Amino acid sequence: MHRVWAEIDTAAVRHNLAAIRARAGAARVMAVLKANAYGHGAVEMARLLVNEGIDHLGVGDSGEALELRDAGIAAPILIVGGIIPGEMPAVVARDIEVNLHTVQMAHDLNAEAERQGRNVRVHLKIDTGMGRLGMQPFEAVPFLHQMKGLRSLELVGLCTHFSSPYEENPAFTLRQLEHFNLAVELAQRLGYGELMLHASSSLAVWQHPDARFNMVRTGIALWGLLPGGDRGWEAALKPALELKSRVLFLKDVPEGTPVGYNRTYYTPAPTRIATLPVGYNDGYRTSLSNRASVVVHGRRCPVVGRVSMDYTTIDVGHAPQVQVGDEVTLIGPGVELYEVAQWAEAIPYEILCGLGRRVARVYR
Ligand SMILES: Cc1ncc(COP(=O)(O)O)c(C=O)c1O
Repeated sequence: MHRVWAEIDTAAVRHNLAAIRARAGAARVMAVLKANAYGHGAVEMARLLVNEGIDHLGVGDSGEALELRDAGIAAPILIVGGIIPGEMPAVVARDIEVNLHTVQMAHDLNAEAERQGRNVRVHLKIDTGMGRLGMQPFEAVPFLHQMKGLRSLELVGLCTHFSSPYEENPAFTLRQLEHFNLAVELAQRLGYGELMLHASSSLAVWQHPDARFNMVRTGIALWGLLPGGDRGWEAALKPALELKSRVLFLKDVPEGTPVGYNRTYYTPAPTRIATLPVGYNDGYRTSLSNRASVVVHGRRCPVVGRVSMDYTTIDVGHAPQVQVGDEVTLIGPGVELYEVAQWAEAIPYEILCGLGRRVARVYR
């Protein structure tokens, strides 16, 4: 029996994939499985998605890519982020696709591929305004010419990343799109005909259908969320993850009892306090202290006192039926992830990615 666990509804993930496909039209779908599939379990999610005929997988670094290859995942995998030179030998040897960000990187990767007598499939990343990774559009022009001399690199894709696809005002995204379209045109003029073209993450798939090109890269929507404000888009999706724990200890206390580190809470009246074996080591952050609620027997119960490494205390004074061993929902129906993220002053992505190693993943 688990003390703290994430329940992952595999039917919800399938449903979300179908909703993305319906929205993406003819475009292929790359499932972004970075950060242990945003806490959902990368290997399990990769297996499920491959069974569903996913076109492509995206990961953040070579460690994540190798984890999938070691688990027998043969589908195309792209490292959507950047790599450092020390990651190149494994990437080449295990047939992992990479995004190219600099001319130097292209030369180093080509040299490594030549050394191994292999080819590497690469996507050229254009920085159209994200300002994080990728080549500036003006650098891409001479590079695409030069690239033809790098015989062990096979250019299979051209991509960019939007910084603000959720903004009400689409002007910045449209400018990014314009710059990307110029790069696409140029690549086509240089004879790179059959490229995968991808720019949209989950929100852009909904907000900017004209930016789908022939592939979209979706993470958060697969897990049933579209944190872009209240636009009704999420009706098409189902949150896939619930975070649960159990009551470990119960005690009746009088008014004025301090609870937790630094006595940040004193009971205002006689009540009953339940201790849960979940804490910041599990990703249930200290910023949730004295702010969040959890659900026990269908009732919301407030978190009182400071969340500590292994424990969280809640007030169950108004839920007298609660017993040691009872199930508690920390994220799920009645305490949606959005609300938890707001309490934590975080974005939903952070809460999912922050779920700790001790949180068992249970698939149903
Ligand atoms: C380059 C890139 N593409 C796609 C995604 C997926 O984004 P989302 O989870 O919003 O769909 C990410 C996620 O951070 C990313 O870094």
